[in-house]
Amino acid sequence: MALSFPTDIKVPIQNWKTGARYYVIRAGDALNIGAHLSEITNICNQPRVYGRLFDGPLGGKPYPIEKAIGFLQWAEEGWNNATHFVFLTTTAAGEIAAACDIKSNDPEWAEMGYWASEHHSGIMTNTVGTVCRLAAQAGFNTLFARTEKSNRRSANVLLRSRFQADTEKTLRDEKHDWFVYRCAW
Ligand SMILES: CC(C)(COP(=O)(O)OP(=O)(O)OC[C@H]1O[C@@H](n2cnc3c(N)ncnc32)[C@H](O)[C@@H]1OP(=O)(O)O)[C@@H](O)C(=O)NCCC(=O)NCCS
Repeated sequence: MALSFPTDIKVPIQNWKTGARYYVIRAGDALNIGAHLSEITNICNQPRVYGRLFDGPLGGKPYPIEKAIGFLQWAEEGWNNATHFVFLTTTAAGEIAAACDIKSNDPEWAEMGYWASEHHSGIMTNTVGTVCRLAAQAGFNTLFARTEKSNRRSANVLLRSRFQADTEKTLRDEKHDWFVYRCAW
């Protein structure tokens, strides 16, 4: 079955800590404007996100705005070609607060990744849960995620979102813990 997401996605979610309203939307070129590029760049330079995701690949250099431009272009290509599926969570005023992506179009085994601004803690679990539901409706059967062994905070997001620990893969991997989400559950 071909994967099929609605073109117009704007799913309301709540910040679990504050009760504030946010929206999960599709990421893409429409967001490739100065304010959003600064928001993405700022979040990706926050110590927690930068340390987990970008310090190694960028060799310790700051996350540049060009990378935010590339991220949104990559998101647009994914939606245009149905190769990967990138979502953003915005505040009610439209400010970007978190991202969550499905990195391939293999319905049986697709990896999920995510980051969230430290200023909006409380939205990641509800974002991941929403993207899992959208993925199930689109035709995915299984999603997986890997967290660095020390990244308890990220593992907790997955466990709260009904991912299950994949002990077999975790035992074979020195660096990562593995989690799996079966969309039919
Ligand atoms: C991992 C990361 C996304 C987690 O963000 P977060 O803000 O802690 O995640 P959440 O919004 O889900 O949870 C925040 C708090 O709200 C609570 N919460 C949120 N949603 C909840 C829900 N639906 N039910 C119950 N509790 C909830 C959690 O218990 C958590 O409480 P705590 O801070 O006391 O532990 C963030 O730290 C980050 O971006 N890290 C760097 C990038 C990264 O590690 N990405 C993942 C790579 S594998």
